[in-house]
Amino acid sequence: AGVIIGLLLGSYLLGALPFGYWVGRWRGVNLFTVGSGNIGATNAGRVLGWPYGLLVFVLDCAKGAIPPLVVVSLYQAGLNQAVEPLMASLLQVGAAASAFLGHLYPVYLNFRGGKGIATGAGTVLVLAPLAAAGALCVWGMTVLVSRYVSVASLLAAVTLLTIHLSLAPEPWSSSQWPLNLYLLFGVILVFVKHRKNLLRLWQGQENRLGDWPMRHV
Ligand code: G3P
Repeated sequence: AGVIIGLLLGSYLLGALPFGYWVGRWRGVNLFTVGSGNIGATNAGRVLGWPYGLLVFVLDCAKGAIPPLVVVSLYQAGLNQAVEPLMASLLQVGAAASAFLGHLYPVYLNFRGGKGIATGAGTVLVLAPLAAAGALCVWGMTVLVSRYVSVASLLAAVTLLTIHLSLAPEPWSSSQWPLNLYLLFGVILVFVKHRKNLLRLWQGQENRLGDWPMRHV
Protein backbone atom coordinates (compact mmCIF):
# COMPACT_ATOMS: atom_id res chain seq x y z
CA ALA A 1 0.00 0.00 0.00
CA GLY A 2 2.89 2.34 0.81
CA VAL A 3 4.29 1.94 -2.70
CA ILE A 4 0.90 2.71 -4.27
CA ILE A 5 0.34 5.83 -2.15
CA GLY A 6 3.89 6.97 -2.93
CA LEU A 7 3.32 6.42 -6.66
CA LEU A 8 0.06 8.39 -6.71
CA LEU A 9 1.38 11.19 -4.51
CA GLY A 10 4.63 11.42 -6.49
CA SER A 11 2.63 11.59 -9.75
CA TYR A 12 0.42 14.33 -8.33
CA LEU A 13 3.42 16.38 -7.15
CA LEU A 14 5.12 15.96 -10.55
CA GLY A 15 1.95 16.96 -12.43
CA ALA A 16 1.54 19.96 -10.15
CA LEU A 17 4.92 21.47 -11.18
CA PRO A 18 3.73 24.72 -12.83
CA PHE A 19 6.20 24.95 -15.73
CA GLY A 20 4.14 27.56 -17.60
CA TYR A 21 4.05 29.80 -14.54
CA TRP A 22 7.78 29.37 -14.00
CA VAL A 23 8.72 30.04 -17.63
CA GLY A 24 6.56 33.18 -17.45
CA ARG A 25 8.29 34.32 -14.26
CA TRP A 26 11.67 33.59 -15.85
CA ARG A 27 10.71 35.97 -18.72
CA GLY A 28 9.42 38.54 -16.21
CA VAL A 29 5.70 37.93 -16.87
CA ASN A 30 2.93 36.69 -14.57
CA LEU A 31 0.82 34.58 -16.95
CA PHE A 32 -2.14 34.80 -14.56
CA THR A 33 -2.48 38.49 -15.44
CA VAL A 34 -1.96 38.58 -19.24
CA GLY A 35 -3.60 37.07 -22.31
CA SER A 36 -6.15 34.46 -21.29
CA GLY A 37 -4.76 34.42 -17.73
CA ASN A 38 -3.91 30.73 -18.08
CA ILE A 39 -0.55 29.14 -17.27
CA GLY A 40 -0.70 26.68 -20.18
CA ALA A 41 1.39 26.38 -23.31
CA THR A 42 -1.12 28.32 -25.43
CA ASN A 43 -1.00 31.40 -23.26
CA ALA A 44 2.77 31.12 -22.80
CA GLY A 45 3.14 31.06 -26.59
CA ARG A 46 0.65 33.90 -27.03
CA VAL A 47 2.34 36.18 -24.50
CA LEU A 48 6.02 35.16 -24.65
CA GLY A 49 6.35 33.89 -28.23
CA TRP A 50 5.86 30.44 -29.75
CA PRO A 51 9.25 28.95 -28.72
CA TYR A 52 8.24 29.43 -25.09
CA GLY A 53 4.82 27.94 -25.81
CA LEU A 54 6.52 24.92 -27.31
CA LEU A 55 8.85 24.64 -24.31
CA VAL A 56 5.91 24.74 -21.88
CA PHE A 57 4.03 22.20 -24.01
CA VAL A 58 6.96 19.76 -23.98
CA LEU A 59 7.49 20.11 -20.21
CA ASP A 60 3.77 19.84 -19.37
CA CYS A 61 3.36 16.91 -21.75
CA ALA A 62 6.36 15.11 -20.22
CA LYS A 63 4.98 15.33 -16.69
CA GLY A 64 1.83 13.57 -17.92
CA ALA A 65 3.71 10.86 -19.82
CA ILE A 66 6.32 10.02 -17.15
CA PRO A 67 4.05 8.56 -14.40
CA PRO A 68 2.34 5.90 -16.60
CA LEU A 69 5.70 5.12 -18.23
CA VAL A 70 7.24 4.58 -14.81
CA VAL A 71 4.49 2.06 -13.97
CA VAL A 72 5.10 0.21 -17.27
CA SER A 73 8.83 0.04 -16.66
CA LEU A 74 8.22 -1.29 -13.14
CA TYR A 75 6.29 -4.17 -14.72
CA GLN A 76 8.90 -4.73 -17.36
CA ALA A 77 11.54 -4.89 -14.66
CA GLY A 78 9.50 -7.82 -13.34
CA LEU A 79 8.97 -6.28 -9.96
CA ASN A 80 5.20 -6.78 -9.94
CA GLN A 81 4.77 -10.12 -11.68
CA ALA A 82 1.96 -11.24 -9.40
CA VAL A 83 -0.27 -8.24 -10.20
CA GLU A 84 -3.61 -8.83 -11.99
CA PRO A 85 -4.36 -6.97 -15.27
CA LEU A 86 -7.04 -4.91 -13.52
CA MET A 87 -4.60 -3.87 -10.78
CA ALA A 88 -1.95 -3.05 -13.40
CA SER A 89 -4.44 -0.89 -15.26
CA LEU A 90 -5.57 0.80 -12.02
CA LEU A 91 -1.98 1.67 -11.14
CA GLN A 92 -1.07 2.98 -14.58
CA VAL A 93 -4.26 5.00 -15.00
CA GLY A 94 -4.12 6.12 -11.36
CA ALA A 95 -0.61 7.51 -11.84
CA ALA A 96 -1.67 9.29 -15.05
CA ALA A 97 -4.84 10.71 -13.46
CA SER A 98 -2.87 11.95 -10.43
CA ALA A 99 -0.46 13.87 -12.69
CA PHE A 100 -3.40 15.28 -14.69
CA LEU A 101 -5.16 16.43 -11.49
CA GLY A 102 -1.84 17.86 -10.25
CA HIS A 103 -1.66 20.04 -13.35
CA LEU A 104 -5.29 21.17 -13.00
CA TYR A 105 -5.09 21.80 -9.24
CA PRO A 106 -1.45 22.37 -8.22
CA VAL A 107 -0.70 22.58 -4.51
CA TYR A 108 2.16 25.01 -5.22
CA LEU A 109 -0.17 27.68 -6.68
CA ASN A 110 -3.13 27.46 -4.28
CA PHE A 111 -4.67 24.84 -6.60
CA ARG A 112 -4.95 27.30 -9.50
CA GLY A 113 -3.68 25.31 -12.47
CA GLY A 114 -3.96 24.89 -16.21
CA LYS A 115 -6.60 23.43 -18.50
CA GLY A 116 -5.09 19.98 -18.90
CA ILE A 117 -4.50 19.73 -22.65
CA ALA A 118 -0.70 19.28 -22.74
CA THR A 119 -0.51 17.15 -19.59
CA GLY A 120 -3.55 15.13 -20.64
CA ALA A 121 -1.95 14.61 -24.07
CA GLY A 122 1.17 13.25 -22.36
CA THR A 123 -0.91 10.72 -20.41
CA VAL A 124 -2.97 9.52 -23.40
CA LEU A 125 0.04 9.23 -25.70
CA VAL A 126 1.09 6.45 -23.33
CA LEU A 127 -2.33 5.03 -22.36
CA ALA A 128 -4.23 5.24 -25.67
CA PRO A 129 -1.75 6.15 -28.44
CA LEU A 130 -4.06 5.47 -31.41
CA ALA A 131 -6.90 7.59 -30.08
CA ALA A 132 -4.34 10.24 -29.07
CA ALA A 133 -2.97 10.35 -32.62
CA GLY A 134 -6.49 10.81 -34.02
CA ALA A 135 -7.20 13.57 -31.50
CA LEU A 136 -3.93 15.28 -32.42
CA CYS A 137 -4.93 15.34 -36.11
CA VAL A 138 -8.29 16.89 -35.25
CA TRP A 139 -6.55 19.43 -33.00
CA GLY A 140 -4.11 20.45 -35.74
CA MET A 141 -6.76 20.76 -38.45
CA THR A 142 -9.08 22.77 -36.19
CA VAL A 143 -6.30 25.18 -35.22
CA LEU A 144 -5.41 25.67 -38.90
CA VAL A 145 -9.01 26.28 -39.96
CA SER A 146 -10.39 28.26 -37.00
CA ARG A 147 -7.30 29.66 -35.22
CA TYR A 148 -9.15 29.02 -31.94
CA VAL A 149 -6.90 26.83 -29.78
CA SER A 150 -9.69 26.31 -27.25
CA VAL A 151 -12.08 24.96 -29.91
CA ALA A 152 -9.33 22.65 -31.18
CA SER A 153 -8.65 21.39 -27.64
CA LEU A 154 -12.31 20.68 -26.88
CA LEU A 155 -12.89 18.93 -30.22
CA ALA A 156 -9.72 16.89 -29.70
CA ALA A 157 -10.91 15.83 -26.23
CA VAL A 158 -14.26 14.61 -27.60
CA THR A 159 -12.49 12.89 -30.52
CA LEU A 160 -10.15 11.10 -28.14
CA LEU A 161 -13.01 9.64 -26.12
CA THR A 162 -15.02 8.70 -29.23
CA ILE A 163 -12.12 6.93 -30.97
CA HIS A 164 -11.07 5.17 -27.80
CA LEU A 165 -14.55 3.82 -27.00
CA SER A 166 -15.20 2.74 -30.59
CA LEU A 167 -11.85 0.96 -30.87
CA ALA A 168 -12.33 -1.12 -27.74
CA PRO A 169 -14.31 -4.33 -28.48
CA GLU A 170 -15.84 -4.42 -25.00
CA PRO A 171 -15.07 -1.02 -23.52
CA TRP A 172 -16.68 -1.58 -20.11
CA SER A 173 -15.40 -5.06 -19.47
CA SER A 174 -12.59 -6.41 -17.31
CA SER A 175 -9.49 -4.27 -17.00
CA GLN A 176 -10.66 -1.58 -19.46
CA TRP A 177 -12.85 0.46 -17.16
CA PRO A 178 -10.20 2.46 -15.24
CA LEU A 179 -8.94 3.97 -18.51
CA ASN A 180 -12.47 4.63 -19.78
CA LEU A 181 -13.43 6.30 -16.52
CA TYR A 182 -10.27 8.44 -16.57
CA LEU A 183 -10.91 9.55 -20.18
CA LEU A 184 -14.58 10.30 -19.46
CA PHE A 185 -13.91 12.37 -16.33
CA GLY A 186 -10.82 13.92 -17.94
CA VAL A 187 -12.90 15.21 -20.85
CA ILE A 188 -15.53 16.58 -18.45
CA LEU A 189 -12.82 18.38 -16.43
CA VAL A 190 -11.29 19.79 -19.63
CA PHE A 191 -14.70 21.29 -20.50
CA VAL A 192 -15.10 22.67 -16.96
CA LYS A 193 -11.64 24.27 -17.19
CA HIS A 194 -12.53 25.81 -20.58
CA ARG A 195 -15.77 27.39 -19.34
CA LYS A 196 -14.43 30.95 -19.74
CA ASN A 197 -13.27 30.10 -23.26
CA LEU A 198 -16.76 28.78 -24.04
CA LEU A 199 -18.30 31.98 -22.71
CA ARG A 200 -15.94 34.11 -24.81
CA LEU A 201 -16.68 32.00 -27.88
CA TRP A 202 -20.41 32.46 -27.28
CA GLN A 203 -19.86 36.23 -27.01
CA GLY A 204 -17.62 36.28 -30.09
CA GLN A 205 -14.68 37.47 -28.01
CA GLU A 206 -12.40 34.43 -27.83
CA ASN A 207 -8.70 35.01 -28.56
CA ARG A 208 -7.54 33.75 -31.94
CA LEU A 209 -4.01 32.76 -32.81
CA GLY A 210 -2.36 35.79 -34.30
CA ASP A 211 -4.66 38.34 -32.61
CA TRP A 212 -2.70 40.83 -30.60
CA PRO A 213 -3.26 42.54 -28.23
CA MET A 214 -5.57 40.08 -26.52
CA ARG A 215 -9.09 41.36 -26.13
CA HIS A 216 -9.91 39.57 -22.92
CA VAL A 217 -8.26 38.22 -19.83
O1 G3P B 1 -4.83 24.33 -23.83
C1 G3P B 1 -5.50 25.46 -23.45
C2 G3P B 1 -6.21 26.00 -24.66
O2 G3P B 1 -7.20 25.09 -25.05
C3 G3P B 1 -6.79 27.34 -24.41
O3 G3P B 1 -5.84 28.19 -23.86
O4 G3P B 1 -4.93 30.35 -23.14
O5 G3P B 1 -6.58 30.25 -25.02
O6 G3P B 1 -7.33 29.82 -22.69
P1 G3P B 1 -6.19 29.73 -23.66
